[in-house]
Amino acid sequence: MSPNESRGLPGLAGIVIVTLAIGGAAVVAGLRYSAVEPGGSSDAASPTAPANSGAERPRPPRPVTDVPEHATEEYGRRLVAQTVELLGPDHPDPTRRYSGGRLNCASCHLATGTDPGTLALLQTAEHYPRFSGRAGNMTDVEDRINECMQRSMNGKPLPLDSPEMIAIAAYLRSLGSRYEAMGASLKKASEPPAFKTPKRAASLEAGQTVYGARCSVCHGNDGLGLLATGEKAKGYLFPPLWGPDSFNNGAGMHRVLTAARFIKARMPLGEATLTDDEAFDVAAYINAQPRPEMPNLEQDYPDKTAKPVDNPYGPFADDFPLEQHRVGPFQPIEEHYKALKKTK
Ligand code: HEC
Ligand code: HEC
Repeated sequence: MSPNESRGLPGLAGIVIVTLAIGGAAVVAGLRYSAVEPGGSSDAASPTAPANSGAERPRPPRPVTDVPEHATEEYGRRLVAQTVELLGPDHPDPTRRYSGGRLNCASCHLATGTDPGTLALLQTAEHYPRFSGRAGNMTDVEDRINECMQRSMNGKPLPLDSPEMIAIAAYLRSLGSRYEAMGASLKKASEPPAFKTPKRAASLEAGQTVYGARCSVCHGNDGLGLLATGEKAKGYLFPPLWGPDSFNNGAGMHRVLTAARFIKARMPLGEATLTDDEAFDVAAYINAQPRPEMPNLEQDYPDKTAKPVDNPYGPFADDFPLEQHRVGPFQPIEEHYKALKKTK
């Protein structure tokens, strides 16, 4: 059951539904994921946990009081589409400046997450709660939103009880029922075959050539994008791929294989025709350019053997050079970890 099905209940105002979604969705989804062990979270087994929760809950439910009236799904959709304007560093109210960069969530989650395929958010509600290797504990949709806030958006976490967090989470949860209602043909992504990692190191030189031929026309020769208007506060028409307004070095997009997967599937926008080799090289080129740096990255992945092979920062649980984790070749690293698992 999806939490959104409760929307059919008679006599409940939308606000109550939002509240239920926040408090209850994790519990509901938790039933499906109960095979996953909560990662030793200290606040497990809260006495305030709802009686219907048969699943192990790693944390107490979200606060359910005082949900502001404007924390609607529609407000959530706007926050994903117009993040720069609504939460960006130029917001007239300094307390609302949560994002440090000037990307919108929808710069990566195309069509505010509703376009099936790579980085779609249509099935996000089903994916949580789940164990995050990066965080080293169980995470909810809200935690994942804040990971993108701090990394992809180079910003600060939204308070869990803020109207903005409640609205974004409610919007993302609403996409689940929307997805269920879509016909099979609409659910199918119109994307080229999935990216396959070439068995070699990426070439920054070749990547620069691809960039000049296929990307710079929109993202700019300098990679800094093109503003929508003269005003930074309005954000970009073509978002920056590096520089101060782009994602930081702790973001998923800063991993070369994650970026190559996205680029092969989605870029150039409207004409995604790159080969695996081109996507691989241009992803490495973009990610070799300067961008904001996130503090304390060495604390990611408390279990270092859980780090993805293309994690672009150490420390690692292996002896491969940092450069190889950034650009490959990845097969030797993958084989090393496969062999390690077998001997365990
Ligand atoms: C620079 C690109 C980028 C931007 C901007 C971005 N994200 Fe993400 N987001 C990603 C990547 C990459 C992933 C990881 C996908 C994966 O794990 O396969 C992700 C994952 C997620 C997920 C988990 C999806 C799932 O189903 O598991 C959520 C939720 C999410 N992002 C929300 C947001 C929100 C909300 C914003 C804006 C505040 C945002 N993202 C901005 C790149 C981005
Ligand atoms: C026709 C214009 C166009 C071209 C050409 C294009 N992009 Fe994009 N790209 C966009 C737009 C627009 C977005 C934001 C998506 C949105 O707002 O719907 C985007 C988003 C992105 C993002 C995620 C957001 C960010 O700023 O990091 C990456 C990465 C990206 N493009 C890489 C590339 C690469 C690599 C190429 C060349 C292979 C390329 N793009 C070519 C228009 C383009």
